[in-house]
Amino acid sequence: MLIGKLDLGPSPVLLAPMEDVTDIGFRLLCRRMGAAMVYSEFVAADALVRMVNKSLQKLRVCQEERPVAIQIYGRDAGSVAEAAEIVLAEAAPDVIDLNFGCPVKRVAGKGAGAGLLQQPDLMCRITRAVVERVGNRVPVTVKTRLDWTAPAAGQPYLIETLAERLQDQGISALTLHGRTRAQMYTGQACWEPIARVRQNPRIHIPVVGNGDIDSAEACRTAFERYGVDAVMIGRATFGRPWIFAEIPRDDASAGQIPPCPKALQGISPHPFLSPDWKLDVLKFQATESIRLVDRQGKDNAEYRGILHVRRHLAASPLFKGLPNFRQTRIAMLRAESLDELFHILEECRPLVSTQA
Ligand SMILES: Cc1cc2nc3c(=O)[nH]c(=O)nc-3n(C[C@H](O)[C@H](O)[C@H](O)COP(=O)(O)O)c2cc1C
Repeated sequence: MLIGKLDLGPSPVLLAPMEDVTDIGFRLLCRRMGAAMVYSEFVAADALVRMVNKSLQKLRVCQEERPVAIQIYGRDAGSVAEAAEIVLAEAAPDVIDLNFGCPVKRVAGKGAGAGLLQQPDLMCRITRAVVERVGNRVPVTVKTRLDWTAPAAGQPYLIETLAERLQDQGISALTLHGRTRAQMYTGQACWEPIARVRQNPRIHIPVVGNGDIDSAEACRTAFERYGVDAVMIGRATFGRPWIFAEIPRDDASAGQIPPCPKALQGISPHPFLSPDWKLDVLKFQATESIRLVDRQGKDNAEYRGILHVRRHLAASPLFKGLPNFRQTRIAMLRAESLDELFHILEECRPLVSTQA
């Protein structure tokens, strides 16, 4: 699949942008696991224009994680275009993605993110402004939802007509989360409208499908039944970065565990994708989080990295069903140092190892 001139290979699987989740450490790990491209969390255009340090820090990328997309959001065409210029200068990402899908009140309620589904003309103007400003130097893409609310019976979702208009503004790919804003994250993602956008003969840019993909099987269905050009995974990566490695490559025989990718060799002596290997991956993730997230940390160097990673560990499906895990989970969420986290993880190892 091509985004502009960027070749992501056949049937690519992408890491979704997620606030407070897809930091530099997690993105790099997911790339090593086989994600074809990774996305930063969204960054407020206004804050970038004002050069707010905390927002500028979110633009930090490393060479090994490329291709990487930086996502921005805002509701003013001028400042989103200005922010795109800053993103290009600071991070030189492989893609700049525009967020028109965030449903939370502090964003959508102010007319940004999914709020722009109520102002499709403005959404197109913002897109055009960014493409005109940076589109000759970096592919610009859009991520959005199906509509603000569900349409009346028999009527199409807004995106079924809006997709063409967005394409006309010059974007290089369109990512669709199969929910409306009203749904937030509830109910089931609806992939039929995504398929209809993809099948529209006038749509020639790649369509990335997103929503509820949590297994290799679901991923296959997305490609085969709904015909999308790429699949994007969000929540199913929490505490499970190896989901990308579990999805068979085209060259793998059906039902067989693929060989361990080179980038992952050395993380663990245990067999690839075994419970012990996964536990070692979580330890590696914690170490990497501290190394990369806290690079500029001074006084309490480990702390920010620990904060970012411990929620992943506590949510990991690796520990699902372990007896009395509740207490362990609380301990994980309270851990304040790498030693403490490692100690808790090692205490879980005998129980995890005996899991099927
Ligand atoms: C904690 C969290 C943070 C998110 N932050 C962003 C974001 O910054 N930008 C964005 O486009 N979507 C964001 N999303 C939405 C996801 O990218 C994705 O569209 C959504 O979770 C549906 O995919 P999934 O079912 O695979 O999780 C976020 C979702 C979650 C759960």
